[in-house]
Amino acid sequence: MVPLKPGRSLMDWVRLTKSHKDLSGLKGRFIEVTEDELAKHNKKEDCWTCIRGHVYNVTPYMEYHPGGEEELMKAAGADGTDLFDQVHRWVNYESMLKECLIGRIAMKPAAIAKEFNSRTAKDKKPMNGVLEDGRLIEACTKDSPPRYDWFQTETAVTVAIYTKQKDLESEFVTVDLEGSILRADILIGNYSNLLYLDLDHAVREEINVNITGIVGKIEIVLQKQDKVTWAKLGQPLDSHDSFIKRTDRGLFFRKCKLISKTSVNYNTKLFCLLLPEGVFLQVPIGQHVYLKDTIAGIEMVKPYTPVSSSLQYNSEVLSSMGDARKIFLMIKIYLDGVFTQHIDSLQIGDELYVSSPQGSFRKSKIQAVEELFLLAAGTGFTPMVKLLNHALTNNSSLRKVKLMFFNKKENDILWRSELEQLTIQDSRCEMQFVLSEPTDEWTGMKGTISLPLLSTLIERKKEPVNKMICICGPAMFTSQGMRFLEDLGFSKEEIYGFTE
Ligand SMILES: Cc1cc2nc3c(=O)[nH]c(=O)nc-3n(C[C@H](O)[C@H](O)[C@H](O)COP(=O)(O)OP(=O)(O)OC[C@H]3O[C@@H](n4cnc5c(N)ncnc54)[C@H](O)[C@@H]3O)c2cc1C
Ligand code: HEM
Repeated sequence: MVPLKPGRSLMDWVRLTKSHKDLSGLKGRFIEVTEDELAKHNKKEDCWTCIRGHVYNVTPYMEYHPGGEEELMKAAGADGTDLFDQVHRWVNYESMLKECLIGRIAMKPAAIAKEFNSRTAKDKKPMNGVLEDGRLIEACTKDSPPRYDWFQTETAVTVAIYTKQKDLESEFVTVDLEGSILRADILIGNYSNLLYLDLDHAVREEINVNITGIVGKIEIVLQKQDKVTWAKLGQPLDSHDSFIKRTDRGLFFRKCKLISKTSVNYNTKLFCLLLPEGVFLQVPIGQHVYLKDTIAGIEMVKPYTPVSSSLQYNSEVLSSMGDARKIFLMIKIYLDGVFTQHIDSLQIGDELYVSSPQGSFRKSKIQAVEELFLLAAGTGFTPMVKLLNHALTNNSSLRKVKLMFFNKKENDILWRSELEQLTIQDSRCEMQFVLSEPTDEWTGMKGTISLPLLSTLIERKKEPVNKMICICGPAMFTSQGMRFLEDLGFSKEEIYGFTE
């Protein structure tokens, strides 16, 4: 993020959008924009960009863009969808730029067909958001989509999905039942298969999801409200039975209830959210969810990485049964943070929206490692919590796990006593706290991430050891850390940076 000029915060932008100023420059008219026309508006003082088929005049937003004017200019007069998605897929541009909308991008149908079928037109990319069907065809040829079937008894309806995935895990399955709407999203590699129906008859709120991993079969059991015979399962809704790239599927949110809020330290809190009864959702280790809420009339979305309720993994395992519907989030509240101030103001019982899990981390990366190194800074600690729990309980080859936790001051160290207790409980654990602004009393390590510091923290053994290093923190910390680790001789496969 870049420092913005005074008077250019998100809230200032919200005020401007509500001031009835003509921000699109078209006095409320919408037009069809050709690619040639779009390309003409490529200067700071006259800048249009196209995101998912919609063209916006971003000139008034230039000074308010937290990523800076230069970044926004990379998409000037062009399709900015890919750049936008690379940096912040979650940002709700539609809500933020509503007043800047120029219209839709125009594409001649004949041109679309020609471009998609022609092998020679490979490098001329179609505009994002206008070739949904084309992308779908491309996806389907890569992997075969699952098949589904359904059957009923007097009291229940069972939907069976056959994925043909021999190692299907429950965390790749998300099911939402809200009223009569059933939505099941199954992840297969980098693809998502969606079943989305308005059910034929009323069902009870709770669902049962059974997964037979060995054969890749999923059964969703619904309880009928009335003992009637269903003629069909339901009416297909938008994108039902589609099989597309996971990243092309928009974020899906369900309403969750805040059930507890406890302090972790002076500026960080542990929030516990409860999923509705009709939801089956597990956040995989190392992945995050997005929270969504409306603040001052603007829909805001921010990512957070769920943690376990505790680091004491024995009790964690025991209590995990009762925790299936709970999501724990450790969130640092910024005094001037727009979203975190809002989250902090929520009362127990209040609701907010939580997305399905996102992220590229796979736990198979640490399945067979003998040594696991975790580098965290500040709230970059959050993915490390589940990683620690998982590695210590499920990885029989693990001989050592070392967390190197970078903070400014001693009272910034999150769950310090929990971490110290873990080292007493399990001799494979080692913790190293590094402070950049310690008091004179601090006897531990001092400094910020650097090559010499990392070379003393991570000793490289002569004999080959199966190891992995995971790193998470502010963008600078992560990118610098990854570079230093490569300089120290670690291979790219041995390093995982949480960069999303
Ligand atoms: C994948 C992912 C996972 C995440 N997981 C977590 C998590 O588990 N827990 C958690 O607490 N956070 C997490 N975050 C960060 C989180 O998404 C938000 O960015 C954070 O909560 C701040 O939101 P905000 O709207 O309150 O603050 P903002 O309004 O965005 O401001 C945040 C703070 O940054 C300051 N700031 C703005 N620009 C700069 C700059 N150029 N240099 C320095 N400071 C600046 C602001 O003044 C303010 O103090 C995660 C982020 C990502 C990308
Ligand atoms: C046109 C619509 C766009 C909107 C509405 C938008 C909005 C935003 C917002 C709200 C943030 C802050 C993110 C957060 O706090 O979580 C941000 C950051 C950023 N944006 Fe954009 N953006 C747009 C386009 C782009 C484009 C085309 C780029 C090109 C690369 C870009 C690059 C960035 C970068 C680099 C950051 C800083 C990320 C960080 O350091 O955390 N943005 N943008």
